Amino acid sequence: MSELDADIDDVVVPAELIKAKTADLAKQIDADYGDREPLLVGVLKGAVMFMSDLARALERPSTMEFMAVSSYGSSTTSSGVVRILKDLDRDIAGQHVLIVEDIIDSGLTLSWLLKNLAARQPASIEVVALLRKPDAVKVHVPVKYVGFDIPNEFVVGYGLDYAERYRDLPYIGRLKPEVYSS
Ligand code: PRP
Repeated sequence: MSELDADIDDVVVPAELIKAKTADLAKQIDADYGDREPLLVGVLKGAVMFMSDLARALERPSTMEFMAVSSYGSSTTSSGVVRILKDLDRDIAGQHVLIVEDIIDSGLTLSWLLKNLAARQPASIEVVALLRKPDAVKVHVPVKYVGFDIPNEFVVGYGLDYAERYRDLPYIGRLKPEVYSS
C-alpha cells in the first residue's frame, strides 16, 4: 500500500497483468530477433520502469540507451512539437533499434522519434509500447509490439506521472479528477 493509492479512482492495469504482458512481449521479441541483439532506446522518463522490466524479461542480451524529449503543450496533452533534451550517447548506425515507450497517446512523440532515429541509419527500427490510447490511430505510427489498448482517460503509475508524481506506483491507475483539477 502506498499513500498515493488514495488518489486513484480505479486500477486500469494491475501490476500482475503488467508483469505477465511484459513476459509475453519479451517472448515475442526474443523469437523475432533471433541472434540479432536489440538496442533498447528508452524514452525518459516514463519508459524507465517498463524498460528495466522488459530488459530483464528478455532471455537474449540487449543493450540500452536513453533519450529525453519534450513536447510542447499542456501537462496532459502533447502538441507534436518535439525538442531533444537528452540525445543518445552513441551512434546507432547498423544497430537493431527497439524504441521502448510507456504510452502512445496522440502518437506525435513517436512519429517524430521514428523519423529522427531512422535518419541515423540503424539496421532496423521497431517500437514496443506498453500502453496505447485510441487517439494513437489518428497519426499512423507502425508499432510492432503493444501491451494494452486503454481508454482515453488520464492514467498514472508504472512510469506515468502527473506533475512528476505517481511514477512509482506499481500499477496503472486512473487519477481522481479532483487531484488534477484542484
Ligand atoms: C509521455 C510518454 C510519451 C508521450 C506520448 O511522455 O512517455 O513519450 O508522452 O504522448 P504522445 O503520443 O501524445 O506524443 P511525457 O512527455 O509526458 O514525458 P515523461 O515520460 O517524462 O513523463
